[in-house]
Amino acid sequence: MNNEWWQKGTVYQIYPRSFNDTNGDGIGDIRGIIEKLDYLAKLGIDLLWLTPMYVSPQRDNGYDIADYYAMDPQYGTMADFDELLEKAHARDLKIMMDMVVNHTSYQHRWFQEALKGKDNPYRDYYIWKDPAADGGPPNNWLSKFSGSAWELDTASGQYYLHLYEVGMPDLNWENPKLQEEIYQMMAWWGEKGIDGFRLDVINNISKNPDFPNDSLATAQDDGRKFYVDGPHVHEYLHQMNRRVFDKYHHVTVGEMSSTTPEECIKYTNPERQELSMAFNFHHMKVDYPDGKKWASAKYKLTDLKRVMAEWQLKMAEGGGWNALFWTNHDQPRALARFADDQAYREKSAKLLAIILFGLQGTTYIYQGEEIAMTDANFTDISQYDDAESRNAYKQMLTDGISEADALQILREKSRENSRIPMQWNDEKHHGFTDGEPWLAPIHEDNWTVEKALADPDSIFYTYQRLIALRRDRDIFANGDFKLLDAKSEIIYDYERQWNGETVIVVGNFSAEEVAWELPARHHDKTLQILESNYPREDITTNLVLQPYEALMIHLS
Ligand code: GLC
Ligand code: CA
Repeated sequence: MNNEWWQKGTVYQIYPRSFNDTNGDGIGDIRGIIEKLDYLAKLGIDLLWLTPMYVSPQRDNGYDIADYYAMDPQYGTMADFDELLEKAHARDLKIMMDMVVNHTSYQHRWFQEALKGKDNPYRDYYIWKDPAADGGPPNNWLSKFSGSAWELDTASGQYYLHLYEVGMPDLNWENPKLQEEIYQMMAWWGEKGIDGFRLDVINNISKNPDFPNDSLATAQDDGRKFYVDGPHVHEYLHQMNRRVFDKYHHVTVGEMSSTTPEECIKYTNPERQELSMAFNFHHMKVDYPDGKKWASAKYKLTDLKRVMAEWQLKMAEGGGWNALFWTNHDQPRALARFADDQAYREKSAKLLAIILFGLQGTTYIYQGEEIAMTDANFTDISQYDDAESRNAYKQMLTDGISEADALQILREKSRENSRIPMQWNDEKHHGFTDGEPWLAPIHEDNWTVEKALADPDSIFYTYQRLIALRRDRDIFANGDFKLLDAKSEIIYDYERQWNGETVIVVGNFSAEEVAWELPARHHDKTLQILESNYPREDITTNLVLQPYEALMIHLS
């Protein structure tokens, strides 16, 4: 039986930079998180995932780590962090650190040493290759941040690999000395008493040693088949588990890019002693036409249901464990993408919450989701700070896309959409900062935490109840999953079964009224509404669902 606290619990993701600023420099900070712990405890979540706050030149908002052992002064000090940990624990909130070990910042001491030359003892901490015969990059792999994944170091005449931003060189996991340094560093955090790790792009750490060229035939042929779920990744994670996670009873989530259920079962089936759960993005690609992210497209509900159902069924069958989420700091917000962020904003936010929280896995809330925050909707490229978005814009123009179209695509797809500051109250900058926010929202919006807390009918309380339900009822962590209507482009409905109990979740993903009938085999059951987003006293076997209505129904 799935009965671990984190299987019944909910994670809240904090993007510290945009959460709460306490010293007026426009950047959220550790003390800002401390200030809001009571708020988070009230929501009822179990675990906080903090995106990286280590020393960093911030070329990728902290995912470029220059020192794993210190907090970046713009976020605070290690003493602040220790206080955060202690105060979180005092409220029964656990803390999961975001850990990036696929790459470091170019400013990391190891890389600075490595740059000194081929004989430097740290050279082999990174991945260096001689140029191809024509003097160009060693192979044709592409960076996730546009362009080649290789950068020439003119001093040595060799290229280094960077699957991400050019200031983020990939670490060489084949080097046992590097492995050792990483395990020791993680154990150091373990000694501090943190409760686990979110492991950044962890299934990319083991590269095909031949570094073959890719065909570049489709948008997916960018080299990833030679490093995603690579040859030794399971060994490395098993080692990490033995050396660190197991010892400190850590909960761990692996960020898995372009993976498969088969691999994720290996990562997360407890018998293999690797990770607790896998955070995959396949349901986030339903609006990528031909796998292309930077293209405008509407998703189809049938695709979304198919992908999510596949992961529900396969992971359960193989004894793996899913992370469940609609958005994070790398995605636009889910509201406009999957439902409606205008006329039905509140209904949509509750609909998405109810649909997600009925599934099997560990549920995640990204900051602001609990108040239905919307996308940044920037209109000018200068408003973007994110390197990935800015590079993609340049690339789109180079590819002949018009400025207007490129901006529209960014409005739909850029991850910066979800990075605008938290909206706490009606004060200037929504109470996020007394100074100028590092990323300025351009729209006036009066949906705030203060209002949500004051309204017993708000989305905040929907989440609060859903979190409690999942903790109280075993069916959510354990029940079998069955997708009911795979063909409808309007209705998302599914069933969970456990120990003679049934829960059915149904949502109307349209602005129309639509008839829905409970499956005939359940017509004799007693029905009880566990959660809903419209006032509904009574429930019968035949319903007319209101626009974006969602219901979670218990049958006995
Ligand atoms: C992960 C992070 C993302 C970052 C990338 C490189 O996908 O979530 O924000 O840019 O890794 O570290
Ligand atoms: Ca600050």
